[in-house]
Amino acid sequence: MSDGLENVVAAETVLSEVDGLGGRLVIRGCSLDDLAGHASFEDVVHLLFDGFYEGLPADVGPRLGEARTAVFTETAAIDDGLLALDPVEGMRALTARLPDGDDLETALRLIAAPAVFTAAVLRAKAGLAPIAPDPTLSHSADILRMLRGAAATDAEARALDAYLVTVSDHGLNASTFAARVIASTRAGLTSAVLGGVSALKGPLHGGAPGPVIEMLDAIGSPGDARPWLENALDHGERLMGFGHRVYRVRDPRADALKAAVRRLTAGSNTAPGRLAFAEAVESAALAILQERKPDRSLQTNVEFYTALLLEALAFPPAAFTGVFAMGRVAGWLAHAREQLAGGRLIRPQSVYVGPQPRQAA
Ligand code: ACO
Repeated sequence: MSDGLENVVAAETVLSEVDGLGGRLVIRGCSLDDLAGHASFEDVVHLLFDGFYEGLPADVGPRLGEARTAVFTETAAIDDGLLALDPVEGMRALTARLPDGDDLETALRLIAAPAVFTAAVLRAKAGLAPIAPDPTLSHSADILRMLRGAAATDAEARALDAYLVTVSDHGLNASTFAARVIASTRAGLTSAVLGGVSALKGPLHGGAPGPVIEMLDAIGSPGDARPWLENALDHGERLMGFGHRVYRVRDPRADALKAAVRRLTAGSNTAPGRLAFAEAVESAALAILQERKPDRSLQTNVEFYTALLLEALAFPPAAFTGVFAMGRVAGWLAHAREQLAGGRLIRPQSVYVGPQPRQAA
């Protein structure tokens, strides 16, 4: 038995390769370096879906815009009960209203769902009316517009594209595995995505970047980093944004996102100071983790610079997991179709270690 299924191979996939020793990520034959900052999210949806969805147009953008408009009607269901939930739970509740299916139309609506619903829930929580999608805009530009009520700059839309592309797929991570297990039962794509969102929201997976901001804010200044981090570890806490099940070297997504932060904040007066502070905290954390866990090789993961980039884009930390879902949903849906195309029901076994029934005297 492998604790946490570490090193267990549970699927063959053409979708992405995570090279944990080389620090490399390949998405459908393309290196992350060639995609992040170069391809649009729509391009990567096409890349991931190609061959898995019948009727896939070469330009996914207009169909995705229509899908955003179609799912927006569900935001009428936002009520006080839904607003009492965490934003990612509110988004999940609205997504659960979409019918199950396994066709392209269902898939595009599910890609639209985290974007449209997260923006609407965040606005409603702030007492503001949801803003209807503009299907003529790129997905990233429309997400920022629906959230803020004002047009995003091209640089901002490109930065969000770089983020969504970077997190679009990543092997058999916990949420993708959950989505594949559900797809393997033939429950439908909506069910698979709901399972993916539910796995993603945990703090050991996609729930980490909000706590990264809390950590940076609590540390306050570079000189306080080491004592703060040591105290956290002394109290048995984990340092958010560090460590990974597969990578034993630096997560390549960390550098892709750091580059996106630099591009976005070039010319700003305040942002470079925030980035330099984060780099100081990162250096202190890596040094302390190396001292305390010399055998484990704990490195910076994707979530550390996710936090910096989404903060620079003015997303509130409470939105971060929902924004992660906006990108990763493309991977969940591609994996779900790959599972349906060739995979059997996923049904592993357990070893019973409890007591046996008493024998009758
Ligand atoms: N801070 C402090 N110690 C850590 C950290 C960390 N960030 N990560 C791992 N460790 C320690 C554990 O305490 C454990 O020590 P022990 O053997 O003395 O008990 C050892 O390293 C191994 O930890 P595991 O949990 O077995 O390693 P695993 O491969 O399962 O962990 C995980 C991966 C969950 C990401 C972990 O590194 C972690 O909790 N990181 C912090 C949360 C985080 O950043 N999550 C986002 C991950 S990226 C993503 O999902 C998109």
